[in-house]
Amino acid sequence: MKAKIAVLAGDGVGKEIVPEAIRVLKAVAERFHHTFEFTTGDVGGHAIDKQGVPLPQETLALAKQSQAVLLGAVGGPKWEGLDYSLRPERALLGLREQLGLYANLRPAKLYPMLSDASTLKREVIEGIDLLVVRELTGGIYFGKPKGIEKTAEGERGINTEVYTTEEIRRIALVAFEAARKRRRQVTSVDKANVLESSELWRRVVTEVGAKYPDVELSHMYVDNCAMQLIRNPKQFDVLVTTNLFGDILSDEAAMLTGSIGMLPSASLGSQTALYEPIHGSAPDIAGKNIANPIATIASAAMMLGYTFHLEKEAAAVEQAILRALEQGYRTKDIHSPGTTLVGTSEMADAILKNL
Ligand code: IPM
Ligand code: MG
Repeated sequence: MKAKIAVLAGDGVGKEIVPEAIRVLKAVAERFHHTFEFTTGDVGGHAIDKQGVPLPQETLALAKQSQAVLLGAVGGPKWEGLDYSLRPERALLGLREQLGLYANLRPAKLYPMLSDASTLKREVIEGIDLLVVRELTGGIYFGKPKGIEKTAEGERGINTEVYTTEEIRRIALVAFEAARKRRRQVTSVDKANVLESSELWRRVVTEVGAKYPDVELSHMYVDNCAMQLIRNPKQFDVLVTTNLFGDILSDEAAMLTGSIGMLPSASLGSQTALYEPIHGSAPDIAGKNIANPIATIASAAMMLGYTFHLEKEAAAVEQAILRALEQGYRTKDIHSPGTTLVGTSEMADAILKNL
């Protein structure tokens, strides 16, 4: 098959991990006889430096013309002083909004050989396999009014949590459909004891759930969920939640697996899908060849499966990651005594060797 992929490496470790994932995709193309066409674009701080804006029109156009986008990370201290509308993060939010990527899938699975890399006890995390379904184009990230206003006393910062019936319905559908391919359990996370937007969220999710009698639905307040994820994460299969709660809970879920450097994501909703690691640009370790490329390589695997329906190829990449870990290769974030410490590109080499 022939595929058009936009490559937006962005900032910090994005510049190091994305090329490694491209090497893996190229190897897949060669071994399975596909043609992947890669086109690179500027995004984030890198785009600000080159073109003055975090999401240049041509980058957005490139993304729209592609079937899939592979993104690294955006942001860094260099651009932190900028106005909000010009920050690198705007590029990511702009892409999500402009491409209509309302469904963000963040699977958190523990590789058995990494059970000692987590800060949690082995018996708590062993066997975890959950999927965070995060709503990505609504909620407080995009709600209006927003901004900072002058007042008589000083200033007032405003953001608004808004969800419509339709926004809740479509993300709930994604969660229930995903649950059907897994252990048929959905936990909807909200703050319905305090927020009206959550009250509506709970009602609509319940209505959608009624059409899935084969899937067990439960509701949980977000504060309790944050606690349950640490107390007993194995109770979860699919978690469906709002943009902000999903942002927070997916970082928490990532740490259960040992390192945030392990977690991939897929953002779906329109014709073009976007794949990225859930971690950020990690400026503190950028440029040192120590970042873990696995989250990005696993994101590329998700791309093969979700966008191109190349299930065999996706499984091959996942297997190669598993084997490299089995052989003891570890980047710094997941390194433990008795394993082989490798850098970013050597980790990718090990995965490529197993592909
Ligand atoms: C994420 C990130 C982004 C978010 C930032 C970089 C805008 O934290 O993808 O989880 O908040 O969504
Ligand atoms: Mg986040």
